[in-house]
Formats: sequence, C-alpha cells, structure tokens
Amino acid sequence: MNVVILAAGMGKRMQSELPKVLHPLAGKPLVGHVIDTARALAPSTLCIIYGHGGELLPETLKAEDLHFARQEPQLGTGHAVSQAAPFLNDDAPTLILYGDVPLIAQQSLQRLLDIAGSDKLSILTVNLEDPTGYGRIVRENFGSGGNIQRIVEQKDATEAERAIVEVNTGIMVAPTAPLKRWLAGLSNDNAQGEYYLTDIVARAVAEGVDVVSAQPDAVWETLGVNSKVQLAQLERIHQSNVARRLMEQGVTLSDPARIDVRGTLVCGRDVSIDINAIFEGNVELADGVSVGANCIIRNSRIGRGAVIKPFCHIDDAIVGPESQIGPYARLRPGADLAEDVHIGNFVEVKNAKIAAHSKANHLAYIGDATVGSRVNIGAGTICCNYDGVNKHRTVIEDDAFIGSDTQLVAPVRVGKGATLGAGTTLTSDAPDGQLTISRPKQVTIPGWRRPVKQKKQD
Ligand code: UD1
Ligand code: MG
Repeated sequence: MNVVILAAGMGKRMQSELPKVLHPLAGKPLVGHVIDTARALAPSTLCIIYGHGGELLPETLKAEDLHFARQEPQLGTGHAVSQAAPFLNDDAPTLILYGDVPLIAQQSLQRLLDIAGSDKLSILTVNLEDPTGYGRIVRENFGSGGNIQRIVEQKDATEAERAIVEVNTGIMVAPTAPLKRWLAGLSNDNAQGEYYLTDIVARAVAEGVDVVSAQPDAVWETLGVNSKVQLAQLERIHQSNVARRLMEQGVTLSDPARIDVRGTLVCGRDVSIDINAIFEGNVELADGVSVGANCIIRNSRIGRGAVIKPFCHIDDAIVGPESQIGPYARLRPGADLAEDVHIGNFVEVKNAKIAAHSKANHLAYIGDATVGSRVNIGAGTICCNYDGVNKHRTVIEDDAFIGSDTQLVAPVRVGKGATLGAGTTLTSDAPDGQLTISRPKQVTIPGWRRPVKQKKQD
C-alpha cells in the first residue's frame, strides 16, 4: 500500500517556533510515532506532506524510505494529499495518516485496510459524546446506520447534521487511481474556502464505489495534538499504556503513574522499578534487577540481579550482574562494569572497564581507566586523566588497594596486589605487591603554641 502522512499544518496553538509534528512525545517527534507505525505495515511508498517550518521537517526526518512533498501554501487536507499524487502507486490502495495523531495503533489501521480491500473507500470513525469541531459522518436514513453518503465539516453542517455523533477521524484508505481523480476534481466552495479531503466521500458514492467504516480499539488512538495541554494528555496516555504493558509482562512498578519510558525498555523476570524512574533510548534490565527511586537510565544494559539504588544517572553504560550502584552514582558513556562491582555515592565512572568484585564506594572519579578484579578504590580517589590537552589512561591491576584521597596522574599503572597509601599522588607506576606512598613524613613540633590574640593598642 501507499501511505501519506499529512504534516504541513503550522500548529499555531502550540505557541512554538518548532513545527508541531516535531514536538516530542515520549522523547520522539509526534510524526516519528506515525512513521514507525506506518513502517510496521510495510508500505511500498511512504510520503510525508510538509510545509510549515520550511525544510526542517525533511532535514530532521531524512531516511531512505521516506518521500517528502512540500505543500505551499496550505489549502486544505484534499490539497495536501494531492501533493503526494506523483509518488503514489495506482495498483495499491492509499492510507492517509496525520503527523499530529501519534498514538494510532497498527491493529486499528490493519482492520481499516482489511475492510478496504483493493477497491473500497474505508474511513476510520468514532462516536463522540461531544463531536464539536469534527467532520460528521452522514449516512443514508440519517443516523440509523445506513450506508455512508458524505462527510460534512462542522462549519458547513446544518443543525441536524451537527447532532450526528459519529465523526471522521480523518484516517482513511482509498483506492489510488480513483483517489487521484477525485482529488483533481475538488473545489473549495465551502465555509473555510479549503480543498477538503472529506469531499471525496460523496464523489465515491456518486461513482458507485463502496464506502465502508471501521472503528479503532480506543478513541485516544485518534486524538490529535493541537496544544501543549493535549500534548501532555497524550504523553500520559502513552506512558500509562507502556506501564500497563510492563506490568502485564511481570514488572513490579511502585506506581504506574510515575514511570517515563522515552524509548524501548526491555525487562526480564522479577524486575522492580520504584517511582520517578526515567528510561531513555534502549535500556535492558535483566532478571531480578531493581531500580530505586529517581533514577535516569539511558541506552544501558543492567545485568541480572543488579541493584540500582535511588538517584543514579546511568548513560551509555553496562552494569554487570549482581552489581550495586548508588545511591547518587553517575555512570557515563563507556562505563563497563563486570559482575558484582560496587559503585557507591558520588562516584563518577567514565570510559572505564571495571572487572569483577571491585569496589569504589565513595566520592571518586574513575575516568579513562582499566580496573582489574577485587580492586578496592578508596574514598576521594581521582583519575587525573586530562593534562589540559590530551586524555591519558590509568591501569589498576587485580587485587590492588588504592588508599583514600589518591590522585592517579595518568598515564600510570598500579601493579597486581599493589597498595597505595592514603593521600598518594601517583606520577609513576607502582610495582606489584608493594606499598607505594607519596606523602611527606608526619612531624610533631615540640613546644609549638597556638598564637594568642593580641590586645589592640591605642
Ligand atoms: C479534519 C477533517 C475532519 C475530521 C478532522 C479530524 C477535513 C476537511 N476535515 O478537520 O473531517 O473530523 O480532521 O481531526 O479533512 N493539513 C495539511 N495541509 C493542509 C491542511 C491540513 O497538511 O492544507 C494537515 C494538518 O497539519 C493536520 C491535518 O492535516 O495534521 C488535519 O488538518 P486540520 O486543519 O486540523 O483538519 P480539521 O479541520 O481538524
Ligand atoms: Mg483544523
């Protein structure tokens, strides 16, 4: 099939410089959700109609399978679909979607496509308690379930037509060759002076083409975003759907209303997630992982049984099984922790590999480092990785013990089983198995007295 996504409108009520369909929902542009759903249907042609915001839309969304057609000026939904005509293959039906209706589900679209077959015009409709603003579905025998005859827009409707509660969601499937003919014949002789896509319905009926309808599983699938208020409402609907899916898979959520997934979260069995966790990009939590309150985890893999305590920030990192992270830990890109590694409060790890059973429990910076197994890194240890121009690597071998408040001035190596005394500034390699210490000898000055306050003389 062909898919056309309308996204030329300006979205005035968003009160923003950014074109409406590029505003993010769950971390992805509105239109990105629609494109992904369309792709899941494996269309032969996918064409996006853009206009407002200039070339920003094609530049942002650029992909091999997308065609872009500019609609300038924007003369209505029918005029918008016309811009796609040169791209559409006549031998397959055309599905029309909206860049600002992000939550439409693949299943509902499949239903609409199934009833459309190859030659029917098929419209996705919903019944609304308050249909104000929508195009109304006018059926034979008026409202009593006869065949669809036409769609009338709110502004063109009579009092009686406005009482109809079945509305046009805008989403439809049309046979492509007739669609092109109908579009070419549209007029803008209506209340808004626009070329209405909805006028193709009466034309199809006049030609004896069957017009059928299907309904989505839920009305929220068809809701559009016109304002920041509606954007926030759809974000909540989306997040609560994601939360429900996670719980159905067995994930324990302390409060399904307080989790945000902006990307893909894959969970094993017996995962539990406390409140206010944010997951971005691709995150994997293996079996038995627990995530404490207020953690932000992005593009990371957390191994089986690992415990992420509250207030951690984990970005582009790998956490090994049974590890303990936080509270208040920061794992930055390239942090790669093996099994049973402990990273405690106010420890920052960047571009560093840490082998099994090693610990940095308090206040440390481990950057550009390779750390062996069973290493203990004392509080206040800093990898001095940056000389102001270049970054250098610190290597700490298995079983080393790094005393508190040590500076490792890279490039530098701490040998197997070496011990560094607290307060050491290590500027050259420390040999295996020995104590290295760089600290002035402690002295006590005999007879020293504190100064006493002198009386002011006037
Ligand atoms: C349209 C339908 C109406 C339906 C409603 C559902 C028509 C004439 N009416 O009305 O029956 O109930 O959607 O929300 O189709 N757009 C363009 N170019 C244009 C005009 C619009 O790309 O020239 C895009 C907009 O960006 C928007 C979508 O088409 O995403 C719908 O346009 P909008 O003006 O909101 O249509 P409605 O008047 O709401
Ligand atoms: Mg409108």
